[in-house]
Amino acid sequence: MDLTHRPRRLRRDGIRPLVSETALRAQDLVAPVFVDATTDERVPIGSMPGQVRVPLDEAAERVAEVRQTGVEAVMVFGIPESKDERGSRAWAPDGVVQEAVRRITEETDAYVITDVCLCEYTDHGHCGVLEPNAESDPTLTVRNDETLDLLAKTAVSHAEAGADMVAPSSMTDGMVGAIREGLDGAGFEDVPIMSYAAKYESAFYGPFRDAADGAPAFGDRRHYQMDPGNDREALREVALDVEQGADVLMVKPALAYLDVVSTVRSEFDHPVAAYNVSGEYAMLHAAAEKGWLDLDAAAHESLLAMKRAGADLIITYFAEDLAPQL
Ligand code: PBG
Repeated sequence: MDLTHRPRRLRRDGIRPLVSETALRAQDLVAPVFVDATTDERVPIGSMPGQVRVPLDEAAERVAEVRQTGVEAVMVFGIPESKDERGSRAWAPDGVVQEAVRRITEETDAYVITDVCLCEYTDHGHCGVLEPNAESDPTLTVRNDETLDLLAKTAVSHAEAGADMVAPSSMTDGMVGAIREGLDGAGFEDVPIMSYAAKYESAFYGPFRDAADGAPAFGDRRHYQMDPGNDREALREVALDVEQGADVLMVKPALAYLDVVSTVRSEFDHPVAAYNVSGEYAMLHAAAEKGWLDLDAAAHESLLAMKRAGADLIITYFAEDLAPQL
């Protein structure tokens, strides 16, 4: 056999790392943290083994634990003490996220990103102000333009509490522009926006709705989140967010949408984030519990694939467990 090309020559131990194209670093990861104003002790999240909701009093401690693993950034989600029709606890100066952010920034050096959305704060669980008759007419859901002002107020209240970056996830048209204007008007020109730019209406969010208590009371989110079959539309969505001043572009979910991550990477110069969502976490845990998968290996390979596809940063519930091994 006379083979000129033998790719296996570069797969031996000494050379393999030298020709490795993609690396995963602890600094690439963002760990979601759930702060719950309705509890005074840690509550394990059943559908997401290892994840907890912490009371306000433990928010800073929880983030310090994350930091010890080498992960430097967190994304804060809040479960408010009460909900109402418009989600007013989302922008309350003494709301759960605002309080948590104040304590986290006082007591740790973490880079603090906040999720800006209304679904955890509205009693109907939708990501904005409802259309009248939305409950009886499945073609109606949220009033886009009326929601913008509330999102901007929420983002500003997070920045006032000390958030380093805000991440709007409601898929409201114009949300990045409205938030940019709100932040700039309040003197927060330096607070960047990571937009959930291409966010799909996905079955993989199931466990999160459990974790953050944000399931819609009726209907679904398909009138504002994207159709999983659409790829070109993602480019239009992302382009709009870029025009409106988004600093970081997120694709969500990650694993089933790596083609979208890759296209956004090649079409735009901005940093790209991938959100490795709750369902992606839950399914690996479920398989590992049955002994069918090696959890750490499967998680590492998934995140590496996201980086290979073009993600610069990854929001992932695996952050804490994987970081020490990187
Ligand atoms: C809020 C929000 C959701 C997630 C992040 N922010 C839920 C949703 O849109 O239904 C999902 C995160 C996950 O599944 O890990 N809008």
